[in-house]
Amino acid sequence: MVSPCGLCSLLLSFSFASVSQFFIFSDAQTKDYDYPTAMISTQWTNNATDNRSITYADGSIVQLILLRRIGEYGPAYACGFYCNGNCKSYLFAIFMVIFEGGTITTLYDGRPQVVWSANRNNPVKIGATLELTSKGNLMLIDANGTVAWYTEIFGKSVVGLNLTDFGNLVLFDRNNVTVWQSFDHPTDSLVFGQKLMAGQRLMPSVSRTDWAIDGMITLSMNNGSLSAQMETSPPQIYYNHDIPNPNASDKPPYVEFVNGSLAFFGINTVEMAVVLVPQASFAQYMKLGSDGHLRVYEWRRFGWVDVFDLLTEYLGDCGYPTTCGQYGICTNGQCSCPFLIDKTSYFKQVDDRQPNLGCSAYPLDCGLSQYHKLIELKDVMYFTFTANLENINASNCKEACANKCSCKAVIFEYGSEAIGDCYLLTQVFSLKKVDNKKISYNSIAYLKVQDELIFSSLSNLSDLDDESLSTSFDNQRSNHLRVIIASSLGALFAVTILIIIIVFFLRNRDDNEVEAGYLDQLPGMPTRYTYEDLKAITNDFSKKLGEGGFSSVFEGTLIDGTKVAVKHLVGFGQVKKSFLAEVEAVGSIHHLNLVRLMGFCADKSHMLLVYEYMLNGSLDRWIFHESNKSVLNWQQRRKIILHMAKGLNYLHEDCTQKIAHLDIKPQNILLDENFNAKVADFGLSKLINRDQSRVVTTMRGTPGYMAPEWLSAAITEKVNVYSFGIVILEIVCGRKIFDRSLDEEDMYLLSLFKRNAIEEQLLDIVDKCNEDMQLNGPQAVNMMRIAAWCLQGDYTRRPSMLMVIKVLEGITEVPGNLEYNFSTQPSTNGAAIFGQMHLEFSATTTLAPSVLSGPR
Ligand SMILES: *[C@@H]1O[C@H](CO)[C@@H](O)[C@H](O)[C@H]1NC(C)=O
Ligand SMILES: *[C@@H]1O[C@H](CO)[C@@H](O)[C@H](O)[C@H]1NC(C)=O
Ligand SMILES: *[C@@H]1O[C@H](CO)[C@@H](O)[C@H](O)[C@H]1NC(C)=O
Ligand SMILES: *[C@@H]1O[C@H](CO)[C@@H](O)[C@H](O)[C@H]1NC(C)=O
Ligand SMILES: *[C@@H]1O[C@H](CO)[C@@H](O)[C@H](O)[C@H]1NC(C)=O
Ligand SMILES: *[C@@H]1O[C@H](CO)[C@@H](O)[C@H](O)[C@H]1NC(C)=O
Ligand SMILES: *[C@@H]1O[C@H](CO)[C@@H](O)[C@H](O)[C@H]1NC(C)=O
Ligand SMILES: *[C@@H]1O[C@H](CO)[C@@H](O)[C@H](O)[C@H]1NC(C)=O
Ligand SMILES: *[C@@H]1O[C@H](CO)[C@@H](O)[C@H](O)[C@H]1NC(C)=O
Ligand SMILES: *[C@@H]1O[C@H](CO)[C@@H](O)[C@H](O)[C@H]1NC(C)=O
Repeated sequence: MVSPCGLCSLLLSFSFASVSQFFIFSDAQTKDYDYPTAMISTQWTNNATDNRSITYADGSIVQLILLRRIGEYGPAYACGFYCNGNCKSYLFAIFMVIFEGGTITTLYDGRPQVVWSANRNNPVKIGATLELTSKGNLMLIDANGTVAWYTEIFGKSVVGLNLTDFGNLVLFDRNNVTVWQSFDHPTDSLVFGQKLMAGQRLMPSVSRTDWAIDGMITLSMNNGSLSAQMETSPPQIYYNHDIPNPNASDKPPYVEFVNGSLAFFGINTVEMAVVLVPQASFAQYMKLGSDGHLRVYEWRRFGWVDVFDLLTEYLGDCGYPTTCGQYGICTNGQCSCPFLIDKTSYFKQVDDRQPNLGCSAYPLDCGLSQYHKLIELKDVMYFTFTANLENINASNCKEACANKCSCKAVIFEYGSEAIGDCYLLTQVFSLKKVDNKKISYNSIAYLKVQDELIFSSLSNLSDLDDESLSTSFDNQRSNHLRVIIASSLGALFAVTILIIIIVFFLRNRDDNEVEAGYLDQLPGMPTRYTYEDLKAITNDFSKKLGEGGFSSVFEGTLIDGTKVAVKHLVGFGQVKKSFLAEVEAVGSIHHLNLVRLMGFCADKSHMLLVYEYMLNGSLDRWIFHESNKSVLNWQQRRKIILHMAKGLNYLHEDCTQKIAHLDIKPQNILLDENFNAKVADFGLSKLINRDQSRVVTTMRGTPGYMAPEWLSAAITEKVNVYSFGIVILEIVCGRKIFDRSLDEEDMYLLSLFKRNAIEEQLLDIVDKCNEDMQLNGPQAVNMMRIAAWCLQGDYTRRPSMLMVIKVLEGITEVPGNLEYNFSTQPSTNGAAIFGQMHLEFSATTTLAPSVLSGPR
């Protein structure tokens, strides 16, 4: 396994010849590199500027103390002061440097690789000294005189310090016997020849620049096994390799890193087992990272390459506790939070752009355990399992966790009898989706959550203004709130709660929703596909239905023969949020006049959506006479308008949360084989909380279809009504809102409409290319009056979509007092009137709508 970085270096190495001339051979002859040993009573000062200092291209600085040179080329061990990053603090470290033609390269590729350090938790400053004292201790003294580290040798007669060929720093006595060696004090790395003895362990640093020990993860050798674990209480072991060691022996077992393997030695140093590692062509070392991976790095002539990920061979991508962070669910290496819809779930991604950082929940408070709840995640396992309770049923398992404050979650594994074993977790790291093919039992996770968001608000009132939190106060939670308010939380919280009640009820007046089923994985949600699945479904993306700036749509066929449209969004890390928003918004909505999202894929670099297949494509292909396709008759057009109205009405009125589509246009209306219309593409949708009648948002949409209040007022679902009005006009008139092929006065359909309405000449603009439309002229003119109503400049005067449906169905009529001055009209070139809005305008028109609402 080679990391992408490693690959780069490998690729680079092919161009070795051409690039090598750029090596800097700095005064190679004058440098004296011959100092592998030192005698007692020697002192070195950390001085980043003297003749033993080297500054690297990556900004790291080393000051050499001992150097064991092997030859003219390749890696060599050195020890000395080391820093990277801002170089305000230094380590006393052992590291590898690279010789190129007899001198040490300072190129980035040859940057020093630290394999051991003395003072990870106590870095020192410039001016600090390392002293090999006359008593034989090695002492690191910071610039202000504080002892940062020392070897703690007492009563031994040390005569010198030696840096060996293997990178072991040794204090030896007059018989050359080792008194102290760095190999006995491993940090996060192992080098060739280094043993990890029973009782020793590797602990990663927090990061490359924060050297402090990350106490969470360890890889430890003990009498029976080598194991990697999270240091929780009790520990959670994610890797374990037993060493067959039936006898107690005077020689404790150990593992040793040798060329080609990590070898396990049991009783009396008999080799018991090996984990194979690729053979080294040059130097290697292995290092435990703060992500729990044990990676092997190798020098490959032109850079350090991450050649092997040792534990992953056994664990797979999802087997690490860190893969998806706390509470993250790992599915084939992809991370998600419990429940896809994070706005209504108890878990939120810590960082939307980095799903691997995990999910945060509202902190559990044992004092409020009456509001704890165990939410169920079916078909989810944990990276490890240790039965705390055996042969019990799920309800007893949950109860065991509920009754224990320290229990944060419980994993229940059971067979066909619904009786199984229970594992109580005190901390919850990555969960993993069950691969049903690979295991023969069932696994459920129950996560403990604080039942009310109110508790987080109590500790952080400022969050109440946060839109994301306010949207989380959805209807389902209101009942709980009352329970909590009714219960005596104590006078301390009374005032705070009062404030929250006010805020809450201002925002949430709709209480008729009952709490139901929200604890289970939401049913009917779109299927998550892997990229490989979709490749198969689309026959390797062979049949393209359409293409836009930011997406391509392909035809696909599911295993059951259902045709689908697979939309592939092109390379946009930053739209992941809106992507998931679309999945979220569309996935849970089912209506005859809304295009159904059947699945999605969010692999690292791939974002795809799987929609139901709409044979006749988008409306714009049928109403603008651009193709020779037979154009739609009046009844078909009327039906399409009615279907659009029904779809939009559903979005506006019947969903739990109002959804303003914000980009209604013919391209986003799709037609099936019978010309039934469905509204598509909710990429621009913004959930409008039902209780907030307006939502402020940034400007978006497509010019021509955008309501005038985009320029001023807050945005409501009435912007959709406006766009709908425009689409009605386009359907009835058989032309686009802007038609630059026409005379300037006719170019803008809305101006033409206004003029003809005032002159009562609306019949003149009914689609002339279609005989059936001409025959139904009076009905078409009536339809235009509905459009006029929808286009009222004052959005409060526009009808709701429900009213529109009633008019279309003949139940009510369009009011008589319509205003035909549809407010500010965009000029024909768009820029003149929008003036300074133009920049933003074009930005949104080129980007936002197209991201998700590309072609079909
Ligand atoms: C480096 O500097 C030290 C004094 O700081 C001096 O004794 C030594 O000779 C110098 N070495 C070289 C190679 O210049
Ligand atoms: C570092 O070395 C240079 C030259 O050898 C010397 O001038 C300077 O004082 C030294 N700085 C410290 C902090 O020892
Ligand atoms: C010396 O500096 C370190 C950190 O740089 C600090 O922790 C320590 O207290 C200081 N000691 C003295 C004596 O000032
Ligand atoms: C120092 O290390 C070298 C190389 O590993 C070794 O050959 C030599 O014997 C060691 N010297 C002492 C005094 O231990
Ligand atoms: C210690 O090692 C050095 C070099 O490695 C050698 O010259 C010396 O003779 C050794 N001393 C003893 C007592 O073995
Ligand atoms: C390993 O076993 C030895 C001998 O039985 C014992 O002395 C030692 O304490 C054990 N070490 C650990 C870490 O359990
Ligand atoms: C202990 O190990 C020795 C060989 O190393 C073996 O002969 C003996 O049977 C072992 N004892 C037990 C109790 O397994
Ligand atoms: C590792 O072993 C291989 C095969 O025996 C050998 O070719 C290679 O030089 C060795 N590498 C090192 C760094 O010793
Ligand atoms: C679980 O087992 C307990 C007894 O161990 C029993 O009382 C309870 O009814 C069982 N619950 C279910 C849901 O089967
Ligand atoms: C409250 O919120 C602010 C900003 O959102 C954050 O910096 C702070 O850490 C939060 N405090 C608590 C106690 O959560």
